[in-house]
Amino acid sequence: MKNNTTWWIRIPALFFLILGLMEIFIDSGNKLAILEYPMAQVFMLFILLLIIAIEGILTAIENVMFQTLDDAAKERYLESKKTKWEWTWGKKTYDKLLGSKPMEAEGEIILDHNYDGIRELDNKLPPWWVYLFYASIVFAVVYMFRFHVFGGYDQKLEYEREIAAAQVEIEEYKKTAKDLIDFNTVELLTDASDLSAGETIFTTNCAVCHKPDGGGAIGPNLTDEHWILGGGIKNVFNTISEGGRAGKGMVAWKSNLKPEEMAQVSSYVLSMQGTDPADAKAPEGDVWVEANAPME
Ligand code: HEC
Repeated sequence: MKNNTTWWIRIPALFFLILGLMEIFIDSGNKLAILEYPMAQVFMLFILLLIIAIEGILTAIENVMFQTLDDAAKERYLESKKTKWEWTWGKKTYDKLLGSKPMEAEGEIILDHNYDGIRELDNKLPPWWVYLFYASIVFAVVYMFRFHVFGGYDQKLEYEREIAAAQVEIEEYKKTAKDLIDFNTVELLTDASDLSAGETIFTTNCAVCHKPDGGGAIGPNLTDEHWILGGGIKNVFNTISEGGRAGKGMVAWKSNLKPEEMAQVSSYVLSMQGTDPADAKAPEGDVWVEANAPME
């Protein structure tokens, strides 16, 4: 039995080969299967033990076989084991790619010049370098046709695509992190679930001063288009979050309500626009026009 590689190469090599194959065949999304599924870990542990066991058995068999040999055969066997293993194919390719002349053959390429005793060798360019150069020529041609002749994407398009993808990711993120809402990012919510949540908050916290229908009592009428502190989702959110003018009675709600809840109640308040409830308070403040509303 002539076995050249040593066990400390064989065992990890086989182990990682099987690990790699497993990762290729098990679909585990972006994560590694070995991290995702405990079963995969058990499997790889089993494989590792199996490889070690096989390795051990083979060594044992080798031992037994060795004991059955006569002395001359033992000698020969040990001799053959001693010959150092060399990776001949790799070595040959390496030499070929390097393309350097062996020292003994340097006479063939030495130049005539003699600079005060310093002679120069006319070495050829090393083949690895030349191949790399050819490869870059092929690459350049392919690149030219792909991007300049047939018009592939350019940096600008690539940039725009990445920005669009990032935008989608931000939207996704915002959905899962509603509590990040603040004055700058708040948007009018129109989902029925958000509005009904807003209504509940309004009835419990705000109706005492603004009346359940928003018509206004201690607090101003919220259903008309007049606003003391500014209309629009951003201003309304800001008023609810930071409170009204000092001494007027409208407190800052940011310590009692979560940002998401303030967005919901702001949207609910705005959904009452124009409902014109009975006994509503007279308008206060100025008519609010959205900055980007179309001019009439
Ligand atoms: C203690 C009474 C009181 C409560 C409770 C109260 N408000 Fe007010 N609210 C006021 C007063 C008073 C003002 C006017 C503030 C000012 O003039 O600066 C006001 C102003 C407002 C405004 C601005 C109106 C404008 O014309 O600019 C909004 C929006 C508003 N409140 C929403 C709410 C919401 C939503 C709640 C519940 C989370 C709430 N308020 C709870 C008394 C109250």
